[in-house]
Amino acid sequence: MHRPADDPAAGAVSRETPATEDVPSAEQERSVLDSLDASPLAAELADESKRRRKLSETTLEPPEQTRVITVSNQKGGVGKTTTTVNLAAALADHGFHVLVIDIDPQGNASTGLGIPHSAETESIYDVLIDDLTFADVIAECPDVDNLSVIPATIHLAGAEIELVSLVAREQRLQRALQEYVTQREQQGLPRLDYVFIDCPPSLGLLTVNAFVAADEVLIPIQCEYYALEGLSQLLNNIRMIQKHLNPPLRVSTILLTMYDARTNLAAQVVDEVKEHFPEEVLDTKIPRSVRIAEAPSYQQSVISYDRSSTGALAYLEAAAELVQRG
Ligand SMILES: Nc1ncnc2c1ncn2[C@@H]1O[C@H](COP(=O)(O)OP(=O)(O)O)[C@@H](O)[C@H]1O
Ligand SMILES: [Mg+2]
Repeated sequence: MHRPADDPAAGAVSRETPATEDVPSAEQERSVLDSLDASPLAAELADESKRRRKLSETTLEPPEQTRVITVSNQKGGVGKTTTTVNLAAALADHGFHVLVIDIDPQGNASTGLGIPHSAETESIYDVLIDDLTFADVIAECPDVDNLSVIPATIHLAGAEIELVSLVAREQRLQRALQEYVTQREQQGLPRLDYVFIDCPPSLGLLTVNAFVAADEVLIPIQCEYYALEGLSQLLNNIRMIQKHLNPPLRVSTILLTMYDARTNLAAQVVDEVKEHFPEEVLDTKIPRSVRIAEAPSYQQSVISYDRSSTGALAYLEAAAELVQRG
């Protein structure tokens, strides 16, 4: 029906009629938006509580012998330290005896586990260069039972150079670790189930020491551009170590970190990594998470900082997978 545009009454009717019949009120609109928002969130929460239940029903057996795992990737910022700290805390939380060896001069793993590591602290530097023992420098994580740390200090920055002229320069970490394992046995202390070594982002002598001391390498891969770039160099170095210094060493585990389910890029990286490492890559992916990023500023793992967070759940699941894969 045509109404003249200059009829004010008609204009009022024609504007208001649809408003009451078709367009939802602000309140209705909010509630529709809320329910749209709530359904994926509710689904996510339901999924998380299912995952938590599954985890709590899983029995995890201790390994036959101590598993020594080097966490390495010569790229910085891919989640090596975050993974070391949180897997170690998750395994201790699952009831295992865990040791973290920090061999990055930055000492981020020491910080993340609440261990003092000022320049005066006796540390892995004194073990590698001055023949102190692990027992001399070991510290207990204040927030997590059964989790000990060999801290790193800034002195370690000089160790790459200082090691060059020392006898058995590639084996110094391995020897110190073996000596400590034997000493624990003699003292009747519980056997270590898992040892993690947090590497610096380089392939120098410190990392070589970590490869020689370990049975396994865990490579964290960030779900970002260039994720696989540089990886062949890392794998070549590992092959060299296998050939000359530590034949049993193997890349046992790849962990995808900082995964963002909303991006196609992350999905592409996952596919590509799975294609190259079908056996090694864990099903669990570590999501990009604010809680994971915040925890170190409280000198805590995400497990002790916010156990109910998705980030903590992911690391607990990754730890369980690591145990089950043996
Ligand atoms: N899953 C994650 N979600 C959010 N931030 C993360 C996550 N993993 C690592 N980070 C952050 O990314 C940065 C680099 O991680 P880090 O573990 O220190 O890497 P690397 O030891 O390989 O250099 C840190 O600031 C850390 O807090
Ligand atoms: Mg680091």
